[in-house]
Amino acid sequence: ALRLRVREALGAREPADAVRVQGWVRSVRSQKEVLFLHINDGSSLESLQVVADPSLEKRDLTFGSAVEVQGKLVKSPHRMQNMELQAETIRVVGPCDIWSFPLKMKERHPLEYVRQFPHLRCRNNTLSALLRIRSEATAGIHSFFQDNGYVHIHTPIITSNDCEGAGELFQIGVSWAKESAVNSHFFNVPAFLTVSGQLHLEVMAGAFTHVFTFGPTFRAENSQSRRHLAEFYMVEAELSFTESLQDIMQVMEDLFKTVTCTVLSKCPHDVELFRKYIAPAQKVMHIFSSSCRISYSEAMEILKQAPQTFTFKPEWGCDLQTEHEKYLVKHCGEVPVFVVNYPYDLKPFYMRDNEDGPQHTVAAVDLLVPGVGELCGGSLREERLPFLESRLQRLGLTDAYQWYLDLRKFGSVPHGGFGMGFERYLQYILGVDNIKDVIPFPRFSHSCLL
Ligand code: 4AD
Ligand code: MG
Repeated sequence: ALRLRVREALGAREPADAVRVQGWVRSVRSQKEVLFLHINDGSSLESLQVVADPSLEKRDLTFGSAVEVQGKLVKSPHRMQNMELQAETIRVVGPCDIWSFPLKMKERHPLEYVRQFPHLRCRNNTLSALLRIRSEATAGIHSFFQDNGYVHIHTPIITSNDCEGAGELFQIGVSWAKESAVNSHFFNVPAFLTVSGQLHLEVMAGAFTHVFTFGPTFRAENSQSRRHLAEFYMVEAELSFTESLQDIMQVMEDLFKTVTCTVLSKCPHDVELFRKYIAPAQKVMHIFSSSCRISYSEAMEILKQAPQTFTFKPEWGCDLQTEHEKYLVKHCGEVPVFVVNYPYDLKPFYMRDNEDGPQHTVAAVDLLVPGVGELCGGSLREERLPFLESRLQRLGLTDAYQWYLDLRKFGSVPHGGFGMGFERYLQYILGVDNIKDVIPFPRFSHSCLL
């Protein structure tokens, strides 16, 4: 028999004899004259209806069981479905104990409920839709960069540097090291899980004008917030011969638009599910039809003049807090907001001095979006050796970053780039409130299930 995926069966133009479909039972409805099943194999949101003679029913043919059905694919008499499978044989490959199975037939479980079962929640419509979207978005991101002449670089996960200088590092040790062993580093130096692939991308941007990386990043932020994870995916791009932040912002915007269009065209039904059940208030998918650009200093003025009082008083030189980001986005009309030119002391060592005063601002850009806050962070990099040398000197990092200084000695060019949090991107386009619901296996402080 011809083996078909559910998606293929549903989309078939012609009836076919002798087909075989495998999957998990999403519903069983047994009537006097006919037995109805719905089978899902993850290839589409929609399940395939199977029509069978009641004599094929057996005790372990239940919701959640794994089955293989053979029969005829025929035009469905129902308007809602194109094809259905008339079963000749039904084999239960793996039964499911429905009494202890945490998912129940025909129930729309809340996201918080299924979050408790990371090993089972992919059998639920919302999570499987999310995972298909995530998969297409991943492919879309790779295509966007490849189509635009970027070289993909596998930046390392284990690193000896703290790119962001924020000290939110997970240090790596070996499980067999005795506690008494004095500083026996496996790598001779302390090693960490990467917080960003940027510095390694900058190396590559010294030989390729356009590079990108897309991989897991790790931050030991002691935050239980709905937009922080300890392990998340970041898309990062680095462009050489770039002298303006505008170029960086343009890539952010193009990336966003292209990937979002890909997702919309590849997964219309999955996206629809989010619009219908998860974020009904989100009327239009944000496709960046308009955006707003303000400087950090302007942002501070806006916040200071705000009629509301903030928990954190806005003050030039301080970081934007969630409440500030929210207010700014609202102030600009609930559109994406680029905030540029941040205080020098607020940002990492690699950002380019704007020379608008003694160490006053750097050429940084953050993209804030409604509902999520910071989606992207980027900057021009300090490509001038003397500037970088003195900054590293002041931070006491000169020795550690000799190689980075080398890049400024051997054919240095103006360059810049950015990183976009992939989970925050998914949260934003789908209107998902909690970041833990857009990644298959969320890791955050006090939780590492599975
Ligand atoms: O703004 P960040 O810290 O920028 C960098 O790491 C730069 N080195 C990137 C670059 O220029 N190549 O992080 C980039 C983005 C943030 O804007 C946010 O969307 C996401 O990564 N992000 C997180 N997402 C989930 N959980 C966390 N704990 C995150 N921290 C940052
Ligand atoms: Mg940032």
